[in-house]
Amino acid sequence: MDKLIYLKQFETDDLGSLAFFEGDRDVNFPIKRIYYIYGVAKDKSRGGHAHKSLKQILWCPYGVIEVRINDGRLEKTYRLDSPEKALILSGGVWRTMHWIEESSVLCAAASDYYTEDDYIRNFEDYLEYVKKGYWANESKI
Ligand code: TYD
Repeated sequence: MDKLIYLKQFETDDLGSLAFFEGDRDVNFPIKRIYYIYGVAKDKSRGGHAHKSLKQILWCPYGVIEVRINDGRLEKTYRLDSPEKALILSGGVWRTMHWIEESSVLCAAASDYYTEDDYIRNFEDYLEYVKKGYWANESKI
């Protein structure tokens, strides 16, 4: 299930803010990998894939990025427009990420190491995968 959370923050009067989250505590999985995507021009999109089982938390510490998710039945859009917002995604969800502002940074913390085997990169294949899944008759998002 997808879930938008607001990170815990420490704000100061003149020295900015610090936000954080912890694996197993604020997200429902241990964190094994962190990566980030940067240097993307405005109006460009990335993603366009699903993960079979990988869980992730996505956040945008700088800029504005929209994350569009689709489970083969429903679509939702989340707008990451503040460093304190983060989106938790379960496995099995198709996602695309859209750069609303130039040079926005997308960060991700993931439940497992990188493996191409966990990706579904073709939407038709994804819909076939959904049909076989336990959520075939219900929405996953
Ligand atoms: P990908 O997840 O396909 O990003 P996007 O859908 O935004 O284009 O990753 C791009 C490439 O980077 C992919 O072909 C493999 C590599 N990669 C790694 O080697 N390790 C990682 O942790 C990730 C996320 C990607």
